[in-house]
Amino acid sequence: MTDLYAVFGNPINHSKSPAIHRQFAEQTGQDMHYNKQLVNEGEFETAAQEFFAQGGKGLNITVPFKLNAFSFAQKRTSRAERAGAVNTLAKLSDGTILGDNTDGIGMIHDMHNLGWELEGKRVLILGAGGAVRGILQPLLEEHPAQVVIANRTLEKAEALAKSFLDLGDISAKSFAQLNGDHFDIVINGTSASMQGELPPLPDNLLAANACCYDMMYAAEPTVFLNWAAAQGAAHTTDGLGMLIGQAAEAFYVWRQIRPEVVPVITALRRQLA
Ligand code: ATR
Repeated sequence: MTDLYAVFGNPINHSKSPAIHRQFAEQTGQDMHYNKQLVNEGEFETAAQEFFAQGGKGLNITVPFKLNAFSFAQKRTSRAERAGAVNTLAKLSDGTILGDNTDGIGMIHDMHNLGWELEGKRVLILGAGGAVRGILQPLLEEHPAQVVIANRTLEKAEALAKSFLDLGDISAKSFAQLNGDHFDIVINGTSASMQGELPPLPDNLLAANACCYDMMYAAEPTVFLNWAAAQGAAHTTDGLGMLIGQAAEAFYVWRQIRPEVVPVITALRRQLA
C-alpha cells in the first residue's frame, strides 16, 4: 500500500517539500505519496491527529507550527529537545509519534557535500532566534574550535550560548563586539535577509579561505552573500542545500534510506533561476 506523508504549514503554497520528496521517492523506488496541507492557526493538533488516524506515516512541519509539533510528539530525539522545535513527525511501528528536528543535520551534511570542514574552525553565527537554536547541537558535535553567536539583542545570544555550553566552546557577542575578530566560517541565521537587510558587521571579519553560509535561499545572491563576496570569502552558498538536506534526513527518519541530494539540488536550482 502507498504510504502517506505531508507537509503542514501556513502559508504552504510555495513549499518545495512535495517536489523534493517526490524526487527522493522516485530515486529510491519507495511507494509513497506526499502532499502539502494548509493548516489554520489553532488547528494544528486536530489536523495532525486526523492525518495519523487516517494512516499517515509522517509529517514535515514548517512555519508557524514547529513548536506545536514539539508538544504534539509523544517522544523526541535529543536534537529536537535541544532545538526546542520539531520539523519532522514519524509514526513508529508501535504507533508512537516521534518528533525530530533535521534542520541542523541537514545544514551540516550540506557543508560536508560542499567540502567544508567544521572541525577546529572558528565559527560565527549571526542571529539568536529559532532557526539558530535548531542548528547548534549538530554544529557543536562537529567539534569546531569556537562558536560565537552575534545578535542585535545581546541577551538573547547570551541565553542561547549558555544553554549549549555543555556541548562546546560557545559564547555571545553584540555585532560591535566582533571588531578585530576573525572567523573561518560565518553562518547567517537572522531573518534580516528576508527583508534585504544585513546586520552591521565590521570589516576584516573573514580569515583566509573563509566560508559563508546563508540559511535562506533565493534565486539571486542574498545581501549577506554579496557582503561575503565583497569581503573576500573563498566559498559562499545560500540555504537551498540545507532545505534539501533537512528533507533527506526526514526521509531517512521515515524510510531508513538516504537519498542522493545533489541531483535534487541541481533540479531545484534550475527551477529557481
Ligand atoms: P527565526 O525563527 O527565523 O529564527 P526569530 O526567532 O524571530 O526567527 O529570530 C530572528 C533573528 O533575526 C533574531 O536573531 C533577530 O534579532 P533580535 O533577536 O535582535 O530580534 C534577527 N534579526 C531580524 N531582523 C534583523 C535585522 N534587521 N538586523 C539584525 N538582526 C535581525
